[in-house]
Amino acid sequence: MKSFFTTAACIITLAFICVSCNSNSSESKQEVAVPKDSSGRKWWKEAVVYQIYPRSFKDSDGDGIGDLKGIISKLDYIKNLGVNAVWLNPIYTSPNDDNGYDVSDYRNIMKDFGTMEDFNALLKGMHERNIKLVMDIVVNHSSDEHEWFKQSRSSRTSPYRDYYHWWNADRGKPAYRYSLFDINHDAWRYDSLTNAYYLHYFSRKQPDLNWENPKLRQEIYSMLKFWADKGVDGFRLDAFGFAAKDTTFPAWPSGFEKDFMRYYAMGPHLHDYLKEMNAEVFSKYDVMTVAEGTGNTLQDAHNLVDADRNELNMAYPFEAVDIAKKEGYSLLHFKQVFTKWDSTFADKGWLAVFLANHDQARMVSRFGNDKPEFRDLSSKMLNTFILSMRGTPYCYNGDELAMTNAGFNKIEDYNDVATLNEYQHQKNIGGDLKKFMENVMFSCRDNGRTPFQWDSSNNAGFTTGKPWLKTNPNYKLINAASQENDANSCLNYFRKMIKLRKDNAVLVYGKYTLIDKDNPDVYAYTRELDGKKFLVLLNFTGKNAIVKTGLDLSKAKVLINNYAATSITESLKPYEAAVIEL
Ligand code: GLC
Repeated sequence: MKSFFTTAACIITLAFICVSCNSNSSESKQEVAVPKDSSGRKWWKEAVVYQIYPRSFKDSDGDGIGDLKGIISKLDYIKNLGVNAVWLNPIYTSPNDDNGYDVSDYRNIMKDFGTMEDFNALLKGMHERNIKLVMDIVVNHSSDEHEWFKQSRSSRTSPYRDYYHWWNADRGKPAYRYSLFDINHDAWRYDSLTNAYYLHYFSRKQPDLNWENPKLRQEIYSMLKFWADKGVDGFRLDAFGFAAKDTTFPAWPSGFEKDFMRYYAMGPHLHDYLKEMNAEVFSKYDVMTVAEGTGNTLQDAHNLVDADRNELNMAYPFEAVDIAKKEGYSLLHFKQVFTKWDSTFADKGWLAVFLANHDQARMVSRFGNDKPEFRDLSSKMLNTFILSMRGTPYCYNGDELAMTNAGFNKIEDYNDVATLNEYQHQKNIGGDLKKFMENVMFSCRDNGRTPFQWDSSNNAGFTTGKPWLKTNPNYKLINAASQENDANSCLNYFRKMIKLRKDNAVLVYGKYTLIDKDNPDVYAYTRELDGKKFLVLLNFTGKNAIVKTGLDLSKAKVLINNYAATSITESLKPYEAAVIEL
């Protein structure tokens, strides 16, 4: 799986979502030609996934941190978006070195977020509204405050010793391993208690679990069953591509860290672990699975998700989200990447389609244009894109409102462990801190984590207390309440676009064909299924653009358009987006 750290700050954008399921349930009753893939129609192919970052979504008790009761209070908002699945970032007990991606108890709820009763009520409330819940499972590593690690580090003979990767210092220093979050970039941390080093690909407080150990694997399967028995509908496997390691820890060529994915992803036995997990857990429940990332090659991606492999359900590739840089990006490149992934999965396997998540800066700031005159138009255009592609769309909370990067210019305003540690690293090595901060302002993942903008009251209506991360000052302008009653708002456009997808299986399963391939300004493609043909036109620029479709548009019916035009020509206005029935 390729995963990405988009700035010098090593801002991680790994995402390995997996949701596995055997359900035949489908909201639409349309007769649809089943794709050739042996897995056929599935609810998770037809779903629109809404990703919620719980820490920033809605605070119910004024402590400045979003919580489960907060999400419960917004279930009707979520339902009214039209989405039918929610991916919740980790909510388990955690000391929050990496905001819940350092779990100290996999079977309990983080105190900041509430209680197990709150969780049960949340799941019930979602199911009552026909919304599926996908849990984020963090098992490449745990927290160093997990009981397993406390036991493991206590003595070399602890029964938990082999739950983690240790290298006794008597053997000398282990071969260098790069850490994504460590101040010194060193993934081996010396622990004097037993005179040994432990491995942590992420922060020092996130020791890597040893998947070679069958006892550890059984613990994880049992934990997954605990959640599946509660009735959750899917699992996203965080950073799981890193889980398998060559535990002899051979030396790698110097400079390997510049291409560390090649060495870290898809280690030995990864597929064995996934097949075992599938046999022991996923196959026994009606759950869908998605892993973060897709390995190093297109074949790796297929091997992770093709139905006959009995591993995961859905590939979550990062290649496209990595394209956007501070300097801009090439639409030709963007089109080429999405087209390549579509054609690779045209007959077999299934893809997630996304332009943002909790490890990314805001979609509209990276892929669109967040200047006031173009913010709404370009955000609507990007949502038209995500929701009209083949594959399951993943929409990140706040992107339905066109929330933008906050771009804080002081390091003190950031919370992200990757950014703070890399800042320290740059300081230690005499790096260019000005340049570093310029990158952070554009691409730090905290840009996507500022509190959700509910209304124009204090702190955007997110909390009555002091928010854990500063609110984006533009909340008075961009918020859900002001968009609710505006028929032309981003929020209402997003709802319309979801409805269009739900009402038209052609947008889910239809064949995708890129047209006017070399057009540097416009992304145009058709979707076809059972005699229905839709054309999608997207102007990715802030100027008028011409598209050459080679199609007769005179009788075309406009199904949705972000300028509310009822007829379409081959001349598109700035950031114009349209879906047309031919
Ligand atoms: C994944 C998560 C990211 C986290 C990292 C370590 O990439 O998406 O947020 O920091 O794993 O758990």
